[in-house]
Amino acid sequence: MVPGLLRHQVILQPLRSATANQAHLTEFINFDTVANCLFRWSVCHMLKALKSLHFRRLIRGVYTQRFKKFGRQPSGIYWTSKERQFSRFAIIIQQVASAAPQGTISIADIGCGYGAMVDYLQESAGCARFRYSGYDINPQLIRSCRANATIPAQQFQMGDCPAELVDFTVMSGTYNMAVTKDIDDWERYFLDCLERCWRYSRRGMVFNLLAADQSYISNGMLYHSDVNKIRRYCRAKFGATRVIRKSGLPSDATLVVMR
Ligand SMILES: C[S@@+](CC[C@H](N)C(=O)[O-])C[C@H]1O[C@@H](n2cnc3c(N)ncnc32)[C@H](O)[C@@H]1O
Repeated sequence: MVPGLLRHQVILQPLRSATANQAHLTEFINFDTVANCLFRWSVCHMLKALKSLHFRRLIRGVYTQRFKKFGRQPSGIYWTSKERQFSRFAIIIQQVASAAPQGTISIADIGCGYGAMVDYLQESAGCARFRYSGYDINPQLIRSCRANATIPAQQFQMGDCPAELVDFTVMSGTYNMAVTKDIDDWERYFLDCLERCWRYSRRGMVFNLLAADQSYISNGMLYHSDVNKIRRYCRAKFGATRVIRKSGLPSDATLVVMR
């Protein structure tokens, strides 16, 4: 390399002289600025990806410990009771069913835990038309889903978004447990997760959050969200978004995002 020249200047040099057209282009494009921008963009993306990996590792640790202690029951994934766990499923499934009143509906349950939504669907009338797949970032929970499955075990997979297009992506409690006190960092991470799920959602996405007037993370590391802010974000970025509130679960909000 020529001493004193930056690596990207050396790489770009042949490009500049490649053809007459490209030479003409160099009159209008400052290649050093472009290279700088690309460099900054890739560093930003790399940092974001590293932070996201770090969060996932911490989340796995938190749920693994809890599951080891309490096992395959609502308290094993931080729910206070089966009744409250199932009442959240009921709201989500009701929203999906009314958005698609006929025919089969494929749903991907992101953050499926030990697979309790399957039990809910099997116990509930009118749910035979749901085609379920479950995803979680925790290998221990996915192993437990597969070992106890009443549906084909391969319908449970590791992941933070569906592996293929589905009608609806659904999440219950998935983003409630934060692993940082930095609310901006956590919201960036959570919205990034939503964006990945949205790409695989043919018709829509339904998820719940703990609701508050202003976003914050509690001392117990629970993420409470300014639901109107998230609704505005989803509407701008994804599609028409409604917020469902139920008196039986006053601290919860369910967001329904439709294409
Ligand atoms: C509170 S539990 C809820 C489990 C299940 N939805 C239920 O209601 O029974 C949250 C689950 O989400 C999983 N999780 C957290 N963040 C996730 C992410 N970004 N993608 C997929 N799963 C995630 C956790 O490992 C955990 O199993």
